[in-house]
Amino acid sequence: METRAQFITLDGIDGSGKTTQLNVIREWFAARKMPVVFTREPGGTPLGEKLRELLLDPQTRVSLRTETLLMFAARRQHLEDVVLPALAQGIHVVSDRFTDATFAYQGGGRGLPTAEVEVLEDWVQGSLRPDLTILLDVPLEVSVARIEGSRDKDRFEREDSAFFARVRAAYLQRAAQSPQRYAVINSHRDKAEVKQDIEAVLNRLFRFAETEKQPAHE
Ligand code: TYD
Repeated sequence: METRAQFITLDGIDGSGKTTQLNVIREWFAARKMPVVFTREPGGTPLGEKLRELLLDPQTRVSLRTETLLMFAARRQHLEDVVLPALAQGIHVVSDRFTDATFAYQGGGRGLPTAEVEVLEDWVQGSLRPDLTILLDVPLEVSVARIEGSRDKDRFEREDSAFFARVRAAYLQRAAQSPQRYAVINSHRDKAEVKQDIEAVLNRLFRFAETEKQPAHE
């Protein structure tokens, strides 16, 4: 049976290992020859990438509400140009970050009330929500140590550890409120274990038997 095109998002605090796990997801789709588009936020369109540059530039001075509106402006363009057309054609979409990041960073991290983010979420997205959000989680110290190790820190990476503690708490709280939509994966483990968990989550989403690829004697 054909499955409806799925909208999958990958999120987590900076330093949670998104890049590595995106490759796992890429390989999973490639192995099954399933049609899929990989994209990211903020970004994913020429306008969105310009907004991303401004939003990540440490020189940018921007108020919290403006920052939030710019995230949602980039998102609207991304939805119209990339996400919605793909889903309408039966192509799955995997987005490196989506609105959970706004709830976590602008909401949790910077203190914008959740209800205000929800107003924009409804206005920009209508009823569209991800079918699955994979939330990569690492202990705060791991995130902070990874950020410290990066050379060119962007505007968000320059925030202090208290900021990332709030961002992480907001992500985990959202996930706990809608467990059916989120898969929280501890990514501070052996790479192979994390990979297995990600694959299991995708298998479940697409209702592939998880035992499909296991040796018969197991
Ligand atoms: P990120 O996705 O981590 O890219 P890279 O892996 O190249 O560093 O960077 C995007 C940053 O933007 C990240 O710090 C989170 C932030 N962000 C928000 O604050 N709100 C949002 O709505 C989104 C999508 C991202």
